[in-house]
Amino acid sequence: MNTLQSIDYPIYFNNISAELNRFIKQGNYSRFFVLTDEHTAKYCLPLLVENLDDKDNYDLIEINAGEESKSIDFCVGIWKMLIDFGADRNSLLINLGGGVITDLGGFAASTYKRGIDFVHVPTTLLAQVDASVGGKNGIDIFNLKNIIGTFTQPKAVFIEHRFLSTLPARQVKSGLAEMLKHGLIADAAYWRKLKQSDLENLSPELIYDSIAIKNDVVIADPKERGLRKILNFGHTIGHAIESYSLNNDENPLTHGEAVVAGMICETYLSHQKCGLSLTAMQEIIDTLLGLYGKYPLDESTFGQLNDTMRKDKKNQGGKINCSLLSNIGQCEIDNVCTDEELCDSLKYYASLEFEKA
Ligand code: GLY
Repeated sequence: MNTLQSIDYPIYFNNISAELNRFIKQGNYSRFFVLTDEHTAKYCLPLLVENLDDKDNYDLIEINAGEESKSIDFCVGIWKMLIDFGADRNSLLINLGGGVITDLGGFAASTYKRGIDFVHVPTTLLAQVDASVGGKNGIDIFNLKNIIGTFTQPKAVFIEHRFLSTLPARQVKSGLAEMLKHGLIADAAYWRKLKQSDLENLSPELIYDSIAIKNDVVIADPKERGLRKILNFGHTIGHAIESYSLNNDENPLTHGEAVVAGMICETYLSHQKCGLSLTAMQEIIDTLLGLYGKYPLDESTFGQLNDTMRKDKKNQGGKINCSLLSNIGQCEIDNVCTDEELCDSLKYYASLEFEKA
């Protein structure tokens, strides 16, 4: 598999130790820091550290795993450790972990001393195919996801397939949701190939192809002025469902599970508003429901979900915007959806019949 070139940085695939060592040497960094959480420190850090050429010149910053860490308090904690360790402007932060680590680490690095270099070593499928590519960094605040952040590109991304074997199946499926999305919004052939693949054992090639799709989009529109909004398909409603679940469920939905629920609602809206055929709508919904099942959404929550959608950072001029499909593999941005239309799509989702296998 080749290295992919992103906006102004490479995405390396496998053999990451050699690439990372080469990168650190070439960068002539005064010191480097590895940001991990307790899971990646246990399961992934050994693979990284064992193979580092320059073991003496780094410090570890470990935080708690979980979305709660993607907060200003944890960011302050990282800034403080960088200060205490004497990190200068020629330091490098290596973000080793899932989307929380890459988003938070990218934000902390892009603001520390007005910005130090950082690279991502994503260890979850979700972070490999989505969070680590495209330079979105940020934190959550006031129950709003990613509401504070920067667009700052990493200096490199290192994708290691071996990390995925350390993940629970549910976490892998969370990343798979974004891979399915990539097919739906930009590449019908990929969607079909993915559907026919062994989804329990995702091949490195399928992951590479998914990253390549996202990479093409972010290269064309790094700051989400237009085309990049297609990546938001499923996310307007999905983020609202995710926030609701995080605040109310004992065992909350993963990001991918919430996005799947959002994609089903937005596929319905695509059929209503964007010319998606009934056959295509059924194909998408059957596939997603078959893979992920259904989240029990109750009508009493719709008002709250709508309020969250109103606060979505993707809105403009107080209007709720969705990216919708006109066909499988084709997505149209900036579809203004009324509260009534959004509510209808939630009702449609709640009414879907689903028998557990
Ligand atoms: N996760 C969507 C994007 O990077 O734009």
